Amino acid sequence: MIHAIIDGIPVEVEKGTTILQAAEAAGITIPTLCYIKGLMPDGSCRMCMVEIENRGWSKLDTACSAHVSEGDVIQTKSEKVIASRRGVLDLLLSNHKTDCFSCPSNGACKLQDYCYEYGVEKTSYEGEMTDFPIDDSNPFFTYNPNLCILCHRCVNTCNKIVGRGAIDTAERGFNSVISTPFGVDLRDSSCESCGNCVAACPTGALTMKRRKEYRPWQVERKVLTTC
Ligand code: FES
Repeated sequence: MIHAIIDGIPVEVEKGTTILQAAEAAGITIPTLCYIKGLMPDGSCRMCMVEIENRGWSKLDTACSAHVSEGDVIQTKSEKVIASRRGVLDLLLSNHKTDCFSCPSNGACKLQDYCYEYGVEKTSYEGEMTDFPIDDSNPFFTYNPNLCILCHRCVNTCNKIVGRGAIDTAERGFNSVISTPFGVDLRDSSCESCGNCVAACPTGALTMKRRKEYRPWQVERKVLTTC
């Protein structure tokens, strides 16, 4: 067994346990955006960064992929960790519109929640934002690549959990986008509209069309009553 301390709590875990798993067992929540329980860590979002001290050295590492080592003293809320998470959110917002009130996922968005939690209201970076066309071809859900943070949760869900392989990452760098093979519309792809990708999306990039009905100002109807 491996012994470590997380946020002052001594933990004893089996070899190969990740810091995220050990923290969860100790009742400590670490923020994640790309992590899917049961799958190999994607490691793309860097939101789960923690500070690890051992034998005189310290480093930041991703809790979802780093394993607990004997004698680790791990901090999940240190100044360095908070600064790192703010930096991640700042970078994500550099290519993400912040007009949340017009987003169908307003109030149900992990990115929005973390921005509130870590006090990141807007990006400190100035520059171009992606302007991809919105794919509204599927009768049940909409894909807006401009709200995508490339966490790959939808891709990993479609490919590794559902086993459909209807979507993947295309292009490189700033032009990276989640796409169907050959960039065809979702309606014309092998997508079976199971909706698991939509459930996996932490932002408003993939949204159920019927979710619009949940917006109170869109369904509000005036009716006559007697009382
Ligand atoms: Fe660990 Fe995304 S949750 S890198």
